[in-house]
Amino acid sequence: MTASRALHARSLSDPAGFWAEQAARIDWETPFERVLDDSRPPFARWFVGGRTNICHNAIDRHLSARADQRALVYVSTETDTERTYTYRELHDEVTRMAATLQGLGVQRGDRVLIYMPMIPEAMFAMLACTRIGAVHSVVFGGFASVSLAARIDDAKPRVIVSADAGSRAGKVVPYKPLLDEAIRLAGHHPEKVLLVDRKLAEMPLVSGRDQDYAAWRDKVAGQAVPCVWMESSEPSYVLYTSGTTGKPKGVQRDTGGYAVALATSMENIFCGKPGDTMFTASDIGWVVGHSYIVYGPLLAGMTTVMYEGTPIRPDGAILWKIVEQYGVNIMFSAPTAIRVLKKQDPALLKRHDLSSLRLLFLAGEPLDEPTARWIQGGIGKPVVDNYWQTESGWPIIAIQRGVEALPPKLGSPGVPAYGYDLRIVDEVTGEECPPNTKGVVAIDYPLPPGCMSTVWGDDDRFIRTYWSAVPNRQCYSTFDWGIRDEDGYVFILGRTDDVINVAGHRLGTREIEESLSSHPGVAEVAVVGVQDALKGQVAMGFCIARDAGRTATEADRMAFEGELMKTVEQQLGAVARPARVFFVNALPKTRSGKLLRRAIQAVAEGRDPGDLTTIEDPTALEQVKESLA
Ligand code: PRX
Repeated sequence: MTASRALHARSLSDPAGFWAEQAARIDWETPFERVLDDSRPPFARWFVGGRTNICHNAIDRHLSARADQRALVYVSTETDTERTYTYRELHDEVTRMAATLQGLGVQRGDRVLIYMPMIPEAMFAMLACTRIGAVHSVVFGGFASVSLAARIDDAKPRVIVSADAGSRAGKVVPYKPLLDEAIRLAGHHPEKVLLVDRKLAEMPLVSGRDQDYAAWRDKVAGQAVPCVWMESSEPSYVLYTSGTTGKPKGVQRDTGGYAVALATSMENIFCGKPGDTMFTASDIGWVVGHSYIVYGPLLAGMTTVMYEGTPIRPDGAILWKIVEQYGVNIMFSAPTAIRVLKKQDPALLKRHDLSSLRLLFLAGEPLDEPTARWIQGGIGKPVVDNYWQTESGWPIIAIQRGVEALPPKLGSPGVPAYGYDLRIVDEVTGEECPPNTKGVVAIDYPLPPGCMSTVWGDDDRFIRTYWSAVPNRQCYSTFDWGIRDEDGYVFILGRTDDVINVAGHRLGTREIEESLSSHPGVAEVAVVGVQDALKGQVAMGFCIARDAGRTATEADRMAFEGELMKTVEQQLGAVARPARVFFVNALPKTRSGKLLRRAIQAVAEGRDPGDLTTIEDPTALEQVKESLA
C-alpha cells in the first residue's frame, strides 16, 4: 500500500487516534475531553471540551522562537507598495485592531463583517476577530451592494470593517459608496463602521457611525488584548458561498478543528515547514485566501505573501518577480491565472531566478491538461492540482506531497486526502459506483475536522442542502460529478447543481437570474454557465423581454443587453456580470414548467442537448440556438 493510502486508511479506521495525534500540532489552553462527538449526525464536533484560540496559534505561539522572522510580506502593484511585518510587528498590529474592535463594543460571539481590498489591515481584522472570539465574515470586495446587503442581513454584524477603495488593474474601485448603499438596503444596521483610509477615494464619514481606523490605531497603542479561549466548536468565521437558490449560504467554521486541519494540511499536502515562504495568489474574500493566505501559513510558522494586483501588471513576470525577491518556496494559484499568463511572452517565465520555489499548487476549477503541461514545462517545477470547496476549508483530493510524491495523472487532482471517506455514489440509488463510472462525489459521515459545521443560523438548511441530496445514504454531497479509476484517482466532471465557476470564482446562476429579473423590462430569464477557453466558464443569460419593442432591432437588443449587464454589475458586482445576454420569445421548459437549463447550456456550448422527451415546446430550444447565431 502506498504511504498516502495507508495514512488515509488509518485516518478512517481510527479517526480518534489519528486526529488526537494531529491535534498536538497546536496549543490548547484546556485539553479536549473527546476527539469526536458523533452523537447528532450529520453534525460532528471535533475536540470536544478543548479550549484554544486561532490567533494565539497563528501569532503569539511563535513569538518566542520567531518574533523577528517575517510573518507577512505585502506587495501591491496597484499602489506600488511593499511592506513586511515580522511576527512581533504582526502581533502589534493585530492587537491594535483587536483593541479597536473591543473599543467599538465587539464581544465574543458578535459578528464583524469585513469588506475590504487586499491590504494588510484586512488580515489584521480577521486575526483580531479570532483573537477576541468575534466571528468574522469576509465579503469579497468584487461584490456590490445587493450581494453585500444580503450578507449583512444574514450575518447581522455589530461592526463592519471596510476601506475607502480598492484598485483593480490600475483603476480605483470605491468601496465606501457601495457599502453605504448596502447598509441602506439592509434590514440590519451595524452599530459602527471602521474605515481604513488608503487615500484612493473620497471617504465621507457618517457621524456617530463611521470611525477612522488611523485615529483608533494611535489611541489604542500599547493596550494589551489577551486571546479569548474558545471551546473547539465555537465558530471562528462565516464565509458565504453560492448554491442552488438565490440566497447565499453562510458556511460556518469551528475553531479547534479548523486550526488542526490547516496545520496538518500545511505539512502533509503543501510540504510547508516553519520558516518557509508561501505565496497564495488569491483574495481574502474566498476560502483559499482564508486558509492559505491568512491562517494556514501562520499556523505553521511560515511567512505569507499577500498580493494586491493582477498577474500581468506591470508585466506578465510579476508573480515570478515576487517569488525571486522574497524567496517564495510554495506557491498557490488558480488555473485561470495560468491561462492568462499563457497569452504572454513565454520568455517571462525565465526572467527570474525561481530556485527557491519547490511546488506550484492550483485549485478552484478544473485544471486542463494543456495549461498544466505549459506551466510545468515553463517553470520546471511540479504542479499540484487539488480539489476542494468553501465548505471543506482544505483539500479533499490531492497528491499529498508531504506524505509522498505519488505520480500525478493529468486531469485528476489525485486521491482522497486523509480524513475524507470519499465515495462516488449513484444519485438515484445512493450506492457506491464501480470504478470508472460517473457518480456524485460524496463524503460519508462524519466530515473531518476543519469542514463546515453548519449553515450559519440554519441547521435545517445544512441537513436539507448537503445531507439529503443523495438518497439512502448518510453522506455529504459536494454537488460535483466525478469518477474514480481503478488506481483510486478521482476525476472531477463538473457540478450537479446550478453553480458555475467563472475564473475560479464560484457563482450561483440563480442569483444572477434574480438580479436580471429585477429589471422591469424582463419577463423571464435563464442563466447558464458556458465553457470559455480563458475563464473556464462564463455566465450567459437568455431573456424574454416584456415589451417586444425593446428587442426589435439589433441596436435595440444591444442597448437592452448593456442595460441588463449594468443592472447585474450594480447589484451583484462586476464578477457576476454575464458575458452576454441573448433575447428569445420562449425558454425551453418541461411540461411541468421547469426550466431546462442543461439543454440550454448544451446548445450554447454547441453540444447535443440529449433527451428532450419532457420538453414542452421544442421550438424554444431552436430559438436559443438562433439567438446565439
Ligand atoms: O466544482 C468544484 C470546483 O470548485 C468548487 C468549489 O469552489 P469554491 O467553493 O470556491 O472553493 C474553491 C476551493 C479551492 C468545487 O465544488 N473545483 C475546485 N477545485 C477544483 C474544482 N474542480 C476541478 N478541479 C479542481 N481542482
